[in-house]
Amino acid sequence: MHKDIAQILVNEQEIKDICVSMGNQITKDYQNKNLILVGLLKGCVPFISDLSRNIDLKFDMAYMSVASYHGGIASSGDVKIKMDLDISIKGRDVLIVEDIVDTANTIVTIMELFKHRGANTVKIATLLDKPEGRLKPYQPEYVGRVIPKAFVVGYGLDYDEYYRNLPYVGILKPEVYNTK
Ligand code: IMP
Repeated sequence: MHKDIAQILVNEQEIKDICVSMGNQITKDYQNKNLILVGLLKGCVPFISDLSRNIDLKFDMAYMSVASYHGGIASSGDVKIKMDLDISIKGRDVLIVEDIVDTANTIVTIMELFKHRGANTVKIATLLDKPEGRLKPYQPEYVGRVIPKAFVVGYGLDYDEYYRNLPYVGILKPEVYNTK
């Protein structure tokens, strides 16, 4: 285990199992739909890669980069689009792939934007859900694991751009961000 990690919350095998079961469910739910996966960069990268390989359908993928954190551990509540989609989602069944839903500020803002752009349906697949952090009422449709209100890193999730490469999700030792 990495020296800056206090505890592993979701290990590699559990992540694999989540990707298989969520992928199977999405395969069932999106039969005869016009599915597009939209990954929110950068945190989605490992998850969209593993999840998409467990979805047995014809679909395409697009990416968007949004920011609500500015290097810290608390959401600023201000969602900024840093890079937009390169294709139209009009009439599409959009499944947004997220690493974690916390306050839900990001996801609610992006969902409203996608509906405004004419998406047929907009749903969320998230690896992790931190419901205790909610500032907006929102329940994601596909949730890998509900976790307590702790700051986690790994498998795409970062602190100050580091730790995304860890193959598991773990709680970062508070001294790592308290001494910064
Ligand atoms: P929300 O808008 O507060 O729901 O935040 C969603 C985004 O905040 C996620 O996509 C992450 O980038 C980031 N985030 C929320 N909680 C954590 C965490 O525990 N570790 C790392 N990033 C987090």
